Amino acid sequence: MSYPLSGNTAKRMLIASIFPFALLAASAQAQNTDHDKGPWQSRWSSGEELYEKVCSQCHDPKVGVGTAIQGRVLPVEYVKFIVRNGFNAMPSFQASYIDDESIAMVAEYLSSLPAPAAQP
Ligand code: HEC
Repeated sequence: MSYPLSGNTAKRMLIASIFPFALLAASAQAQNTDHDKGPWQSRWSSGEELYEKVCSQCHDPKVGVGTAIQGRVLPVEYVKFIVRNGFNAMPSFQASYIDDESIAMVAEYLSSLPAPAAQP
């Protein structure tokens, strides 16, 4: 016995097919509350946040992978050039991940930090 789809069944099928996408959207939104930067945004909330979450992973004096960049008052244009183009072991970062404004903020933040202690 087969009936044509009743209005209700069609509605249920529609809801069932939309539901997974609704879940995906909800989880993307939930993730976005964890930090200020969503995966679709390249603007960081502060130079400090960008430094702590990205740059310091290599550049923190305790890590020592990247050279010391804090407290040297590096010109914004120089920092921007390195971030956009990379430099030997340093990867480049595109504007879709770190926008120009965020690079300016991180350069300012780096200048505000004290210079690292001299190496023995
Ligand atoms: C994956 C590790 C890594 C990350 C992440 C990283 N860097 Fe680097 N960076 C390096 C390394 C290694 C060098 C040194 C390259 C060399 O001298 O050969 C470097 C060099 C630099 C230089 C030049 C330093 C100098 O002595 O003139 C600047 C400026 C710089 N990085 C800024 C940044 C900023 C700003 C960020 C964050 C947006 C960042 N880096 C993230 C590894 C990293």
